[in-house]
Amino acid sequence: LDNGLGQSPPMGWNSWNRYTCDINETVILNNAKAMKETGLLELGYNHIIMDDCWSKRQRDPETGKIVPDPEKFPNGLEDMIEKIHNMGFKFGMYSSAGKYTCAGYPGSLDYEEIDAKTFADWKIDYLKYDNCFNQGRSGTPLISYQRYEAMSEALNKTGRPIFYALCQWGEDQVWNWASTVANSWRITGDIYDSFDRYDIRCPCETYDCPSLQGYHCSIMNIVNKATPLAQKTGPNSGWSDMDMLEIGNGGMTYDEYLTHFTMWAVLKSPLILGNDVSNMSPEHLALVSNFDVIAVHQDVSAPANRIWKKPFVDSFVHLFSGALSNGDWVVAIVNEATVPLVEMSIPFSDIFFDNRDNAKFAWTAKDLWTKETITAARHLTVDVVPHGTQVWRLQKSTHNSHNSNYWTG
Ligand code: DGJ
Repeated sequence: LDNGLGQSPPMGWNSWNRYTCDINETVILNNAKAMKETGLLELGYNHIIMDDCWSKRQRDPETGKIVPDPEKFPNGLEDMIEKIHNMGFKFGMYSSAGKYTCAGYPGSLDYEEIDAKTFADWKIDYLKYDNCFNQGRSGTPLISYQRYEAMSEALNKTGRPIFYALCQWGEDQVWNWASTVANSWRITGDIYDSFDRYDIRCPCETYDCPSLQGYHCSIMNIVNKATPLAQKTGPNSGWSDMDMLEIGNGGMTYDEYLTHFTMWAVLKSPLILGNDVSNMSPEHLALVSNFDVIAVHQDVSAPANRIWKKPFVDSFVHLFSGALSNGDWVVAIVNEATVPLVEMSIPFSDIFFDNRDNAKFAWTAKDLWTKETITAARHLTVDVVPHGTQVWRLQKSTHNSHNSNYWTG
């Protein structure tokens, strides 16, 4: 969507994964404060997004407006939003392209203009727009498009720049039409805090489940789904939303969370934390604070591509690579198996799949987790722990010239 927003994917925090409906002013402000005190705001996590369950069950009968729940927000929502803005954040709001939200609160279907105006008056900067209770106005790309386009136009009319994030779970091939109306779009059912556990009722990796509502997908399901769709995203179109992060919520090991974070970054999903930031372990805080990985995520460039996925013992190894805007490359190896990957040699001809001239050079490779830097020619040698990921940033080495005869293919 050409509204000037989202040249790189957004970063921030959302209330849903950790708190679901158990939200109020204290929970949201405490997390915002923690985001600032931990330095996460400064690192780029600059959206505080309130998810479902913030309003009263009924609209105001006189004005038709949605009314914030006065028990959850005793000082009013506008007051909270102002506090969040004053801390230096942008504020994200939630509604649904349906009669109700998923939790049964008023949705914005057929109330697009009045709600967009109300939200803009409250000075929101981001809208997550869900898909529950859509009155059967779904099932073909065209009718879904109409519901999501209506809010896009209503937001545009307000004149306030508002990042527009579709939450349609990948139904009706959303990736084929969303970029004309929105800045990002969910591509799967909800995330599970699990590396490989998923809901078997609906294969998360297929492209047209009849309805994805309530179906949960593991980290690797979502990676597999996002990978071919990467080609449909980028700075001038918008981003596949792989769902909010689970780091810190307790369902995965450190190495699995590292894979989760690295993959979301190199595939350029929005990086929206979904945990209690005020009570985060130092390891998890350090993980999501990795400046080098964030720099790849925020680089104005397309997502990395998966070069291959090869069988390895009880699972697979995946190779991703992608060009960055300054000529550097990012390379990631995911070990999906339960045994270590030891000294695997990755030829430069694989890494530079569509730019083989690059394979002739020597490259300085920085491991973005260990921070170790090596100079490599012809290939990289990788060691990856079970369920882990190794990721490098490659910079052309100045010690080499076109004349080096490294590439022999
Ligand atoms: C479904 C969405 O996919 C979730 O992210 C969350 O917003 C819930 N709805 C809220 O009810």
